[in-house]
Amino acid sequence: MTDMDARPATAPGEAELAEAGLALEIDGAVATVTLNRPERRNAMTFATWRGLAAIGRSLPADVRVVVLRGAGPCFSAGIDLSMFSGGGEGFSDGSDAAATERFIAELQEGYTWLRRPDIVTVAAVHGHAIGGGFQLALACDMRVVADDAKFCMKEPALGLVPDLTGTKPLVEIVGIGRALELCLTARTVAADEAARLGLAEIVVPAGGLDAAVADLVAALLAVNPGAAVATKRLLWQAPENTLDEQCAAERREQTGRLREMFGGNG
Ligand code: CAA
Repeated sequence: MTDMDARPATAPGEAELAEAGLALEIDGAVATVTLNRPERRNAMTFATWRGLAAIGRSLPADVRVVVLRGAGPCFSAGIDLSMFSGGGEGFSDGSDAAATERFIAELQEGYTWLRRPDIVTVAAVHGHAIGGGFQLALACDMRVVADDAKFCMKEPALGLVPDLTGTKPLVEIVGIGRALELCLTARTVAADEAARLGLAEIVVPAGGLDAAVADLVAALLAVNPGAAVATKRLLWQAPENTLDEQCAAERREQTGRLREMFGGNG
């Protein structure tokens, strides 16, 4: 089975998206997912994370680039804090450890699909990206950032750990010392520092975010689709591989490319 075969047909409907605080626009090879509760600063609920997973599972096979953005003044204020104060409905108290871990695993599925090799994912971040919002940006392949962006890993300040897949990319990008400093102080990182730390690939003036994302998307789409998929697969495994393993992976991928381009059947 290829990555594309794994995409089933049923997309979340308008009602499901609205309940999740999401909007989805698909235009040919580009899907734009908008965190769409601006009146709550795009705070995220369990429905948001389940909705993101459903979008990932149902993307049409011809989508090659997925952009994640936030409506209104910021990218996302992270978890909807009213879920803590509103009696914690749906929250586990952790007493059943296995059930709690299964529950969190389901929510993490809202993020993990963003690493799939058959798509390239771009977070377009403006304003605050806090907690689960910061982790969503980290789950994407790259981040285009407005100069008013502010990242904060707030979870430890609230007694929690970042558990929406963000710890691994954070450490990979900034290193363990800086990741510890950012998480254990829960301090806010502004766009210029984010760029220096490698958390942002591109920083632009706030009014230029959409245009910068459009330029990046056009450049990504200009590359051969099969080569893009194979190269993403190759690059994401590089940190885990030894040099020998990575050289072998390069040979395998290149053989596949050559077969596809020149029709060799081995
Ligand atoms: N949950 C629920 N509602 C939120 C929210 C959140 N995370 N963040 C903002 N809102 C609401 C506010 O309560 C406010 O509602 P009212 O209009 O009814 O008063 C509205 O959105 C606008 O908020 P502000 O007036 O505060 O907007 P601002 O632009 O001045 O500030 C902000 C924006 C800096 C994001 C600020 O709202 C804030 O600090 N929010 C809380 C951030 C936070 O602590 N998030 C949790 C992160 S931890 C996490 O995400 C854990 C995890 O994934 C597991």
